[in-house]
Amino acid sequence: MSCFQCCMSERRIARKSLKKSIQEYHDTKTLASFANISFKSDSSRRRYITEEIKKIGKGNIAAQIFTFRELCVATQNFNPDSLIGEGGFGRVYKGHIESKNQVVAVKQLDRNGFQGNREFLVEVLMLSLLHHPNLVNLVGYCADGDQRVLVYEFMPNGSLEDHLLELPPGKVPLDWNTRMKIASGAAKGLEYLHEQANPPVIYRDFKASNILLDEEFNPKLSDFGLAKLGPTGDKSHVSTRVMGTYGYCAPEYALTGQLTTKSDVYSFGVVFLEIITGRRVIDNSRPTEEQNLVAWAQPLFKDRRKFTLMADPSLEGAYPIKGLYQALAVAAMCLQEEATTRPLISDVVTAIEYLATGKKQEENVDEGNGEKCDCPVAGTDGAETEADS
Ligand SMILES: Nc1ncnc2c1ncn2[C@@H]1O[C@H](COP(=O)(O)OP(=O)(O)OP(=O)(O)O)[C@@H](O)[C@H]1O
Ligand SMILES: [Mg+2]
Repeated sequence: MSCFQCCMSERRIARKSLKKSIQEYHDTKTLASFANISFKSDSSRRRYITEEIKKIGKGNIAAQIFTFRELCVATQNFNPDSLIGEGGFGRVYKGHIESKNQVVAVKQLDRNGFQGNREFLVEVLMLSLLHHPNLVNLVGYCADGDQRVLVYEFMPNGSLEDHLLELPPGKVPLDWNTRMKIASGAAKGLEYLHEQANPPVIYRDFKASNILLDEEFNPKLSDFGLAKLGPTGDKSHVSTRVMGTYGYCAPEYALTGQLTTKSDVYSFGVVFLEIITGRRVIDNSRPTEEQNLVAWAQPLFKDRRKFTLMADPSLEGAYPIKGLYQALAVAAMCLQEEATTRPLISDVVTAIEYLATGKKQEENVDEGNGEKCDCPVAGTDGAETEADS
C-alpha cells in the first residue's frame, strides 16, 4: 500500500514538473531553437546546455553529468570490442560506471550530425522528466567540448529488431506470448506519453530498433531525440518537418507534416504487424509485391481465411488462432489511412493486455480457419472473398 502511494506521488510530481517546466518554458522558447544557437567557445556552449537543462528541469533532473574522461574509463576508450550497436546518430557501447557499479549503454553522438545539439537536449529533457517502467532510464549525459554522449541503463537483450528481424541462424525466435508481452509493454509506454504526460508527448520514432528488452524481455522505449510536445488548447495537430523512419510514418504525417498522437498509433500498428509476421516493414530482398509490409497485408486483412498466411513462419504454428485473429484486428485498426478512425493507444493497451495475459488462449486454439472472431474491427470480419486453399 505504501509503495503504491509512493509511486502515485512520484507520478504526480513527474506530471506536475513536466507540465510546469516544459509548458511554461515552451511558451517563451521552443526546444527546437537550441539547434540554431552559436557559441563563442566550447565552455560557453557547455555552460549554456547545463544551464538550460537545469532551468527546464527545475531541479528535477536526476541524470548525472559525466566528464568525457569518465566515459572513456567506462568504455575502455570507446573500445570497438564494446560496440553494441550503431544508428543514424552515432555508436552505442557497453560500459561500466565504477562509482555506481552499474553496467550502462553509452551512446556517442556523431559530432558532425547537424541536428546533434537539439536532439541531445530533447533526449536529456524528455527522459529526465518522464518516468515509466516502459521507458528506458537515462543514467546521465556528457556535453564536454563538442562531445555529446548519452548514458542509459543497459538493456541485456538488445532491441526487438535483433530478436525479430535480424535473427542470426541458430538463435531461438521469440514465442507468441513473449511477442504479445513486448507489444503490450511498448503500447503502455506510448499510453503514458499520450495520456499521462501533460502536455502529451508524441514519440515520433516508434520502430523495432527503438524498443529495448531487459533480461525478462520487458520492453522499454528509447531514443526521444525526435519526440515532440503534442498540440495544446484547441489545436488538433502540430505542424512540423517530417522526421522519423521511412515505412513507420503515418501517411498524413509523411505527406503533410501534420503530427498527432494518432501518428504514433499508426507506427505502433506497423511494429505490431512486424511482431506478428516476422517481416520487416520495408524489405527489398522480397518479391516486389511483398516489399512493403503494410501494402502486402492490406488485402489479407480483408479475408479472415488468409490470416494464418500472415503469421511468422518461424512460430511454426505455435500460436492460438483466436489470438492471431485478434492481434491482426488490432494491427489493422491502427493502420487505418484515416487518422481519426485509428483507436486511442489506451484502447490498444486494453486489447493487447488481454492477448498478453495468455488467459484462455489454449481454449481458443482452433484448427479450422472458419471460427468467428469476436474482436470487432472494420474491414476484417465480413469480407470472405476467395477461399484460401
Ligand atoms: N540502452 C541500451 N542497452 C542495450 N543496447 C542498446 C541500448 N541502446 C541502444 N542499444 C543497441 O544499439 C543499437 C543502436 O541504437 P541506436 O538508437 O543508436 O540506433 P537505431 O535505433 O538502431 O537506429 P536510429 O538511429 O535510426 O534510431 C540498438 O539497436 C540496440 O541494439
Ligand atoms: Mg534507436
